[in-house]
Amino acid sequence: ETIMRGSFDHYMLKEIYEQPESLTSTMRGRIKKDEGTGRYEIHLGGVKSRLRDILSSSRIIFVACGSSYHACLAARQVVEELTDVPVSVELASDFNDRKCPLFRSDTCVFVSQSGETKDTLESLSYAKGADAVTVGVVNVVGSEISRQTSCGIHLNAGSEIGVASTKAYTSQIVALVMFALQLSHDRHSKDARRQEILAALHEMPYQIESSIKRIDEVTLRLAKSLEQSASILLSGRGFQFATCLEGALKIKEVSYTHTEGIHSGELKHGPLALIDDHMPVIFFAASDNTKGHIQSALQQVLARRSSGVFVIVCTEDDPDMLKYRGNMCELVEVPKTADCLQSIISILPMQLLSYHLAVYRGHNVDQPRHLAKSVTV
Ligand code: G6P
Repeated sequence: ETIMRGSFDHYMLKEIYEQPESLTSTMRGRIKKDEGTGRYEIHLGGVKSRLRDILSSSRIIFVACGSSYHACLAARQVVEELTDVPVSVELASDFNDRKCPLFRSDTCVFVSQSGETKDTLESLSYAKGADAVTVGVVNVVGSEISRQTSCGIHLNAGSEIGVASTKAYTSQIVALVMFALQLSHDRHSKDARRQEILAALHEMPYQIESSIKRIDEVTLRLAKSLEQSASILLSGRGFQFATCLEGALKIKEVSYTHTEGIHSGELKHGPLALIDDHMPVIFFAASDNTKGHIQSALQQVLARRSSGVFVIVCTEDDPDMLKYRGNMCELVEVPKTADCLQSIISILPMQLLSYHLAVYRGHNVDQPRHLAKSVTV
C-alpha cells in the first residue's frame, strides 16, 4: 500500500496531484494536433457508431449520482452550445422515483466512475426498456454500465482509491466536453469555438502541473483559518455552479464540515440571511459572461459583514478581482482556460482545501465515516 501511495500520506492527495497525468490519459489518442495546419481533431472511437442516432435525438439526458452528477452539470452548457440539442441532468435516484417519460428519440448518458452504482444502473435498465439510445461514461473497464450501454467513453483516469472522487471528476468533465466536440465535429459554424476548446484542453495538463503546488500552499493556509468553522458557504454561477456544489460535497465528505453550494443568483432568495461575521464564504469568479453578476453578489455579501473568512477563487491576474485583495478578502488565483473548462481548474483548490481540513481535524481522509467508494446496494 505504501508503495502505491508513493511519497503521499493519502490516496486522496496522490490522486489530486495525479490530475495532469489522468487528464492526459483521458485525452490520449483522442485529441490530435495536425502540426502542419495547427488544427486539432477529435476521435472518440467508442461513440462513433451511434453519432447519427445521438444527433437526431430530441434531447440528451445525463443521469448520475454524487460527484458524477456534478460533472454532468459542469458539462451541460457546452454540450448544448455545440450540439444545439437540449440537455437535462438527472440525479439517478430522483429519475428512478419519477419514472420520467422517456422515448426512443432520447439519448441517455450514464456517468459513473465505478460503473456499478445501483441507482444509475436502475436508470439504465429503465432507459433500455424505453428503447432510448444509451451511452456509458465510466472509469472502470468491464463494469456493468460499460457492458450494458450501447456505446460509450472510458475515462482512462487510472484507478481511484480515495472514497472522495477527485481525478475521476475532472476526467468526467473532459470526457463529456470531448463528447460534445465529437458530436459537433462537422459543424462549420462551431469550428472556431471547437478549435478554441481543443487547444485549451491540450494545454490544461501543463497548466495544472505548473500551478498545483502553489494552489496547495494557499489552500493549506486557508484550511488553517477554517479549522474551527462549523459551516461554510460556497457560491458561483454559470460554469462555476457545478464547482460550488462539488466543492461543498468534497468539504462535507472528508472534513465533516457543514458546507453548502449555492447558486449566486439564489443568494437573495434566502441564503443571504445566513451571512454574518462568522460565516466563511467562498466565491467562484470566472472571467466569463457571469462576471458582472458575480461581482454584484459578492458586493452584497461583503456589505453585510465586517470580518471573517472571505475568499474569491478567480483566474490569475484578473484586474476586476485583484482590487478585492486585502484584509477582508483572500484571493485564490488559478490558471485561466476556456470558459467551459474553467470548472476543471477551479475545483483544484476545493479538493485540496477539503483534504487539508480533514487532515487538520484528524479524519480518515481515504475512508470517511459512513461512506463507500461504490454504492452497489
Ligand atoms: C459514491 C462515491 C462518490 C461518487 C458516487 C457515485 O457515493 O463516494 O465519490 O461520486 O458514489 O459513484 P459513481 O461510481 O457512479 O461515479
